[in-house]
Amino acid sequence: MKEPGTLVEYGATIDAAAMVVPPDTTELELEPGHPGLGDAGYVVRRKELFDLCRRHRLGNLGPPTVVYTPEETRIWREVSPKLHELHDKYACSIYLKAKRDLAINETEIPQLRTISERLERETNMHLVPAEGALPYRTFYEYIAKRGFPVTQFIRHGSHPEFTPEPDMIHDCLGHVPPLMNQDYAELLTLIGKAAATTARGEQVLALKRFSWFSIEFGLIEEVGETKVFGAGILSSTGEIPHSLFSKDATRRPFVTDMVITTDYDPSQMQKDFFIAPSLPFLRRELEALVRRFDIPVL
Ligand SMILES: [Fe+2]
Repeated sequence: MKEPGTLVEYGATIDAAAMVVPPDTTELELEPGHPGLGDAGYVVRRKELFDLCRRHRLGNLGPPTVVYTPEETRIWREVSPKLHELHDKYACSIYLKAKRDLAINETEIPQLRTISERLERETNMHLVPAEGALPYRTFYEYIAKRGFPVTQFIRHGSHPEFTPEPDMIHDCLGHVPPLMNQDYAELLTLIGKAAATTARGEQVLALKRFSWFSIEFGLIEEVGETKVFGAGILSSTGEIPHSLFSKDATRRPFVTDMVITTDYDPSQMQKDFFIAPSLPFLRRELEALVRRFDIPVL
C-alpha cells in the first residue's frame, strides 16, 4: 500500500503506449486493498463525488461547491492539526505564508472554488476538479494551461493518516498553497507545457523525475536550513520527519543531470531527496533542460 502523499499520476514505470493513448477511467475504481472497499456508504459517496467532479471537469465548470459530511470533516480535523504542527517547524516559508493567505485551517475543509478564484488573482493559476488520478497526458495538458487538477474526496476514516491515492488532504495541504508563488507557478506550468508537447518518452520520463524530486518530494534551502516544499512530503506526517532526518534516506544537492536519471518508487517511503537552493534556481534549471531537449515551449 502506498504512503500518503504518493501520486498515482506519476507512475515510476513509463509505459510509452499509455502516454500516447492514456487510459481514461469513466467510472470510480478503488484499487484492491483500498480501506474504503468494504464500506458501502463510502463507496456511494465516492461515486457521487467522482461523477460530480468529472462532470465539472469535462464541462469546464470549475470546482463544484461540495457540502462535506460530518465524517469527512472529522477526518480533516483529525489529520490537518498534526500536519500543521509539523509544517510550522519544517515547511518552507513560501508554503507557510500561502497557507495563511489562503486561510486553509484545521476546522473546515476548504472550498476549492474560493481558493481557485484567489489563485487566479495572485498567479493566474486555477484549480481543475479531478475525479481521481488523471491520465498523464491529460494531467500535463491542464497544467500547461495553468490549471492544477485537484481531488475533492477525502480518504477513508479507518486510516486517517493513510491514503492509497492522492486525496483532498494531499492536494489541499500539499500542492495548493505553493501555487500562490509566482516562481512555483511558472515552474509547474513549464513542466506541463514541456511534457504535454514532447512526443519523446525519455524526455517525459526526465520531466517526471524533475517534477517528482521538486514539486512532489523536493527539499529547499532556506537561510542555512533545509526545509520541505514537496507536496508528497507536506501531506504526510511520516514523510516530513523521514525526509529531513531518516538515516535510511539520502539528501543531496539538486543537480539536474543526477535528478533526471534517478528512479523512484511511489509505493514506498522515499529514499532519495534533493535539496534545491531556491525556486528561481529550479525554474532556471528547468528552462535549460527544456532548451537542451529542444522542446519549443519557451
Ligand atoms: Fe501529488
